[in-house]
Amino acid sequence: MRLVLQLVARLLVIVILCLGGATVWATIDAYHSVDRATAASAERVSQALEALYWRELLLRGNRTREHLLPVPEWRTTQTMSLISPGVCVQFEPKGEFENPLCGQSKGIGASPPHWFAAAVETFLGDHAAVARPISARSTTAGTVTAVADPDAAISLAWQHILDNVHVALLMAVAIALLASLAIAHALAPAQLIVTALQRMANGHYRTSLPRFRSMELAMIGQAVGELGDRLAQATEERAVLTRRLLEIRSDERRALARELHDEFGQNLTAILAFANTIEAASAQEQDRGDVAQDARMISKATLHIMACLRGTLNRLRHPPAEELGLEASLINLVDSWRSQNATQPMIQLDLKGDFADVRGAVAATAYRVAQECLTNSLRHSAAREIVLRIERRTGLENALLVRVEDDGGGDAAKVAQSAGFGLTGIRERVTALGGSLSIAHARRGLSVAATIPLAA
Ligand SMILES: Nc1ncnc2c1ncn2[C@@H]1O[C@H](COP(=O)(O)OP(=O)(O)O)[C@@H](O)[C@H]1O
Ligand SMILES: [Mg+2]
Repeated sequence: MRLVLQLVARLLVIVILCLGGATVWATIDAYHSVDRATAASAERVSQALEALYWRELLLRGNRTREHLLPVPEWRTTQTMSLISPGVCVQFEPKGEFENPLCGQSKGIGASPPHWFAAAVETFLGDHAAVARPISARSTTAGTVTAVADPDAAISLAWQHILDNVHVALLMAVAIALLASLAIAHALAPAQLIVTALQRMANGHYRTSLPRFRSMELAMIGQAVGELGDRLAQATEERAVLTRRLLEIRSDERRALARELHDEFGQNLTAILAFANTIEAASAQEQDRGDVAQDARMISKATLHIMACLRGTLNRLRHPPAEELGLEASLINLVDSWRSQNATQPMIQLDLKGDFADVRGAVAATAYRVAQECLTNSLRHSAAREIVLRIERRTGLENALLVRVEDDGGGDAAKVAQSAGFGLTGIRERVTALGGSLSIAHARRGLSVAATIPLAA
């Protein structure tokens, strides 16, 4: 899963948790706000009735206070305006048939679902009634009692929650969107680092990553850059070593050829001479016919070894591509395989360009690549057709392309992983000349391609 999506998913979980917390908080706050409204209503009504009480007292002057109460005019619109919606107020002692005076609770909002009413009742319980004496100085003046109307209180709380949750939901959506954009923007440079690593995996080690603003990404970018430089340096060193190794090997081959020629060859010549002498001497004696015969056999065997030695010396001194030139040696190679495999597979040689001046290490390497890949196709695959294509790429690229493609059903990914000495050897040769080797899937088999720079 992409990191951006992971972070956004986590952010959404956090936002949902916060939303849940906000809802619980809004519920509790709505519950307490009903209690506050009940207390405030009791307070306001008791203050208004106190004023009413003292005014009545002054007006009636000499009458006894017992007949003064209950205040008859207390159930007025003015008192009602002092009562919060959903709260009912009762004056004590109350008159006959007197009902509590309730604040307007019509049109408070939608009625809440049953589960909400049940949950609030279970967890938060009923609202307590609030009683306020009308006057602290006169205990007989009466009391105002305010009670929250349970249905109206629940509706109020539900409306309160809806208002809060709507705002919180809008904020949550806005936060999630903006934070996702911010995260995506902050992580965008990670794609550059991944691309650089992929290029490194394909052999382009030196990277030119920009300096990232965030410290962590800057550190990763710097580490990737240093790793690339180190890899490039190690690859260059290895190429130098491989070139040196190949030089040493051809020096060794020449030295071996010289030794074989000078020591082995001289001794074979001497053996041949001795055998000839023995044959001639024994031919003159009558009963030594068997010795002459043996001597002739020795001469024959020696001549055979000398012929073999000449062939070996030739190969040691002159690898095919250097001896015959690239084109002729490739034609020879293909011809020799064709003659060994009369019918299957069909080997097609496709040469494009002029190879007359391609000599030395480039020619030898191209020849070895073709040889190894042809051998592999014939040995490891059930190919019915093999195409060997050599192309000289001119212009800026100025390189030699050697590609062997077969339809033998090989698995490119497996071959690339299980490269044995053959493929490893040609890869090292090609890399030593600054080129590259790729193993890819062909139409119905494998395609191995080497690009060898000609300037090398
Ligand atoms: N053309 C091909 N088709 C199918 N498999 C191949 C082909 N070329 C190579 N392979 C596989 O890749 C392996 C490695 O090849 P290579 O490095 O040449 O080693 P070797 O030929 O010594 O086994 C082979 O053993 C073979 O399994
Ligand atoms: Mg092989």
